[in-house]
Amino acid sequence: MEYELSVKKMTLREQISFLTGKDFWHTASVDRFAIPSVMVSDGPTGLRKSKGIKTVQAICYPCAAAVASSWDKDAAKEFGEKLGDECLSERVSVLLGPGICIKRSPLCGRNFEYYSEDPFLAGTLAANYINGVQSKGVGTSLKHFAANSTEDFRFKADSIVDERALREIYLRGFEIAVRHAQPWTIMMAYNKINGKYCTENAWLMSNVLRNEWGFEGLTVSDWTATSDRVRCLKAGLDLEMPSAGYYTIDKVAKAYRKGEVTAEEIETSARRVLHLVDKASDALKNPAPVWDKKADHNYAVELAKKCPVLLKNENGLLPFGKKDNIAIIGARAKNPLVQGGGSAHINAYMIDAPYTAFENLGCNLSYADGYDLKNLDTTDDALVNEAVAVAKNADKVLLFVSCSDMDVQEGFDHENMDLPKAMNDLVDAVAAVNSNVAVILSTGSSVLLPWADKVGAILQTYLLGEGFGKALPALVFGDVSPSGKLAETYPKALEDVPSVKDLKVDENCNLKYRESIFVGYRYYDTAEKDVAYPFGYGLSYSKFEYSDLSLDRTEDGAVVVKFNIKNVGDMKADEIAQVYVGATFPSKVYRARKELKEFARVSLEPGETKTVELKLNKCAFEYFSTDLESWAVETGTYSIMVGASSRDIRLTADVDIAGDDLSAEADYTDFAPHYFNANIDAVSDVEFYNVLGYDLDQYLPDKSDLRLTRDDAIADATASRKGKFINNIIEDIEHLSPFPENYTKLVTESVKTIPINRIISSSHGILSDTMGDGIVNFLNGGSVMDTVKLFALGLPASAKAIAMPILLKKSAGKETKE
Ligand code: BGC
Repeated sequence: MEYELSVKKMTLREQISFLTGKDFWHTASVDRFAIPSVMVSDGPTGLRKSKGIKTVQAICYPCAAAVASSWDKDAAKEFGEKLGDECLSERVSVLLGPGICIKRSPLCGRNFEYYSEDPFLAGTLAANYINGVQSKGVGTSLKHFAANSTEDFRFKADSIVDERALREIYLRGFEIAVRHAQPWTIMMAYNKINGKYCTENAWLMSNVLRNEWGFEGLTVSDWTATSDRVRCLKAGLDLEMPSAGYYTIDKVAKAYRKGEVTAEEIETSARRVLHLVDKASDALKNPAPVWDKKADHNYAVELAKKCPVLLKNENGLLPFGKKDNIAIIGARAKNPLVQGGGSAHINAYMIDAPYTAFENLGCNLSYADGYDLKNLDTTDDALVNEAVAVAKNADKVLLFVSCSDMDVQEGFDHENMDLPKAMNDLVDAVAAVNSNVAVILSTGSSVLLPWADKVGAILQTYLLGEGFGKALPALVFGDVSPSGKLAETYPKALEDVPSVKDLKVDENCNLKYRESIFVGYRYYDTAEKDVAYPFGYGLSYSKFEYSDLSLDRTEDGAVVVKFNIKNVGDMKADEIAQVYVGATFPSKVYRARKELKEFARVSLEPGETKTVELKLNKCAFEYFSTDLESWAVETGTYSIMVGASSRDIRLTADVDIAGDDLSAEADYTDFAPHYFNANIDAVSDVEFYNVLGYDLDQYLPDKSDLRLTRDDAIADATASRKGKFINNIIEDIEHLSPFPENYTKLVTESVKTIPINRIISSSHGILSDTMGDGIVNFLNGGSVMDTVKLFALGLPASAKAIAMPILLKKSAGKETKE
């Protein structure tokens, strides 16, 4: 409270200074009141604290896609606690994670950083992670709010999505996490939703987040996601990151003088920043705990054992015997893919290579690279032949396969779901000479496995973090049974993904979420489409029997689902049981065949039986009614399905639910018929707009005027020769760069696609609006002379931006309230 209270004594300018960061990673400070700045740092797979141009060494844990496959609520919390302690050791007050965007498309470059295609699973695990971190007195930043399911053109992409899909799919996970864990901060995404930037969206930040869900924390922009600080402030964005310095401070002060912003709006957001500083300061008062990295590395190994998903295990090929003669094939065994690139990348403390881990156990091994990691697009016949020779002489083969670095990278999406050619060819060749091939797969997303029928076993590890190597032998030799289950569906082909034609932005940067609520298994199950591996699927070295389902009602109307699970195999293992709900009656609105509403991970000794008891509250039966503008329950009989996966339902029972009066609800069969059996391919623009509630075509830009504004990006400059010239230069840089391809592409894509006004604001005032007009003038084909003139005219503002901090520091505290 101490710092928060001082807000009343501050000048308006001091208050405004809290609305933008102090630098890239700190909140502002004010010496006059001895208010410290606090540090925020990236997560979510570990601590990524910047130190100069590097980041501190930290533990690289399994990525979110892997943690989600554990379906382990306790593990998510414990993981959060570890991260909280690590933040305290490094004096970091807010960890920028978790990310819970819904995996709408298997092509999203950041899928590895996100949990699931299902909001209940994502929101529940995120709430546990957040509670874990925050129990240590360290905050989190739940991100990226909202409907941020693509990386291509991420700064400008406009998610065109109907409110029901928003509420039930894209916002639901955030809602669960906010209601159950109150993250200290929420990070507002780069993209727009239905024409409005998330950072300027009052409906999202004020109505939904604060008024409906009761969010008490602070909203922060994703880095450089503010185009117009005043508009953002008015819509409810508290903190802009990173710092835009006096550029922002001047703009907000001017808007106040003009009566466009009220003192109350400024004070409210400043107070929230100070409240964050207060909360963070409590923990910072204690001495920093010593970070035992060795112990945390060992914890990373244990966490890694809980995540992998056994996709196939014909004739019990896995586990291998410890004395087997094993060929390890694939350069990834020595150089594993344990994490993705971008803001989640960790300067890992100690990466265990799987090959070394097997070697250290004294296994009977042979080895071949099989492919060249520097050139995965081409198959190297010599390497393949060598691998085939090694495979022929071994009893069993462990074959390491991964996606390329480019497929697990922030900043751009993938083009397809394919694994690199060199990997696929190698699997074919090795499987042709050895019938005991177990593939160890490391990807960030669902992929196509064209050779799945040819190999004996497939263990999907996702990106398992630095403990991958040491965790793997325990799983391969059966000291621990793989128990993870898929948090996303693996379709048979990219063409099977709902809305496949709308997975990339169109020429207007719109991304039509034509499929509405039919994302992932909600689509595949309702459309009755065959899949490669369903949502919730995963094998075990043991076997489980489900029995004795009973449903009870509590006084508050909740349904208590009770059933038994017995381990009928001969080794200890965990089973993940899933509870789905589906309406059995015809409805006026379209509904998914089934939806995940609860789950439990249960550990069982051989022969042991445990009773699982899970509670379904009213919200398990709700849908969002856009006509009534509220959540609603239809009266009728619902099927409660208890399953080992979304397609392996073991027990069912019906329950009658008395719902709301829905006589005012529209009949969707009239104007959205194809949604009722999820026939998304047949949904026309008109039918989609019916569901959307507005006609998108009316809002499309006037194509007769191709001149850019400061809200456009360099990539938009396709009409003028000068614009094309700049774009070509950037492409040349991309090809000539000496840096790794994924890193270079992240930078060049960002430069090309970020709106000009964000380049201006992130320059800390060194570039002014007039200079921005100069850039726009040039990109529009204007003369070099005019561009130079505009730059010259902008110089006084730049000079002021540089001089201001020094002058203001000197006069600190002498100002009066404006
Ligand atoms: C990413 C965020 C990240 C931030 C700070 C942004 O580009 O989208 O996830 O927290 O950078 O690194």
